Amino acid sequence: MNTSNGRKIIIAPSMLACDFARAGEEAKKVCEAGAEYLHLDVMDGDFVPNISFGADFIGSLRRFSDAVFDVHLMIREPARYLEKFAAVSDVITVHYEACDDPGGALRRIRALGRKAGISVRPATPVGVIKPYLPFADSILIMSVEPGFGGQSFIPSSLEKIREARELASAAGGDIDIEVDGGVNAGNAREIISAGANVLVAGSAVFRSADPAESIRALLAAGERET
Ligand code: DX5
Ligand code: ZN
Repeated sequence: MNTSNGRKIIIAPSMLACDFARAGEEAKKVCEAGAEYLHLDVMDGDFVPNISFGADFIGSLRRFSDAVFDVHLMIREPARYLEKFAAVSDVITVHYEACDDPGGALRRIRALGRKAGISVRPATPVGVIKPYLPFADSILIMSVEPGFGGQSFIPSSLEKIREARELASAAGGDIDIEVDGGVNAGNAREIISAGANVLVAGSAVFRSADPAESIRALLAAGERET
């Protein structure tokens, strides 16, 4: 089994990089190739300078995939929309920087029966999330500035991943460390070694000639790490 600190490695293709006109088929294809999560980036044009898609689009993908729907809310005050996204998600991640009350948002997500994730932008020290870890199922480390796919991995993210893994271990819960932005088969190994167990990959999967092969390459990077 591919592991990171005893955890299974999960590949989460980011649908932001797929061909939206064929999103259902694209989702099906990557899940058949071994992706266990689908990462769904919701952007409001306010918290980040881009607009993507909402809950109805995500819900429409359900009939194409049994994957874990991993919804990354890059929206200001996400508490306003949690019910709507809970209806179409398995994991919901909110940004620390976007919430007046991050702990309240995480508790609400859990109360809605979904896993709760908290994310930090590259400039935000990971230590700020410590008080919220009792209510978190995952930590999402942004390894690029949120808003766009296709950017390069910021190397200092590796240190944040290590710190997040230490915080998660100290908190004692069963917390996933997810990394999002610029992940590819070339850097997956060091990202996993630093402590990540969920790898989000947009361009590396959907902008490659063979998305299925790209997923296998990411999984193989996990195997080499063990
Ligand atoms: C960026 C998104 C990412 C993005 C990753 O704001 O959160 O999920 O789609 O894309 P790549 O893998 O191309 O960096
Ligand atoms: Zn994302």
